[in-house]
Amino acid sequence: MTTVSILYFSGTGHTAKLAEAVHKRAAAVPGVQAELIPLSGDDILKGRYQNEAVLAKLDASDAIIFGSPTYMGGPAAQFKAFADATGGRWYGGAWRDKLAAGFTVSSGPSGDKLSTLHYFFTLAMQHGMLWAGFPETPMNDKGINRLSSYSGVMAQAGQEPADVAPNAADKLTGELLGQRVAVAAARWKR
Ligand SMILES: Cc1cc2nc3c(=O)[nH]c(=O)nc-3n(C[C@H](O)[C@H](O)[C@H](O)COP(=O)(O)O)c2cc1C
Repeated sequence: MTTVSILYFSGTGHTAKLAEAVHKRAAAVPGVQAELIPLSGDDILKGRYQNEAVLAKLDASDAIIFGSPTYMGGPAAQFKAFADATGGRWYGGAWRDKLAAGFTVSSGPSGDKLSTLHYFFTLAMQHGMLWAGFPETPMNDKGINRLSSYSGVMAQAGQEPADVAPNAADKLTGELLGQRVAVAAARWKR
């Protein structure tokens, strides 16, 4: 069995909806067990993230897909607190050769989302993980990758009513990221 974890923070629910879309098609890949792992701000004490159970689940994963809203041009502080707590894993090389990928949501069509994806990439490179980008072209009639991001998936929350966003096209884009990473992780494990 190949294990894919979707590790994300969401303040007001938009990133959570995209995470569910990523999970949907990852979980549908034969031989893959996909799990949604939400980060909770309640696990941050005096600025430090502490939840050994979450970190242990990630230790046991073949692929980790990182997700966060873009806040002030980067990942949310809650995600960064989690990332800082992975220092021990970095020291021991625990996450070397796992696959990594990422997704983010923000209000603007750009909103500096690329900075968030690049942060995920840097975190993955520090851990010796292997980054899976997102090669779908925006030339299609379904709105797949309509924001034209190849480093990871971007979705927009500002265009739709809050209870709808991200829209169907962005959720489909997220689904395809989940599928891509799950298929790649299963192949990599073989
Ligand atoms: C503190 C804060 C900073 C934000 N910074 C940005 C930003 O830099 N760019 C942007 O487009 N949207 C920004 N937004 C909007 C959020 O990215 C947007 O509301 C997103 O959908 C939140 O995701 P969530 O519902 O998963 O928390 C910001 C929102 C907050 C609360």
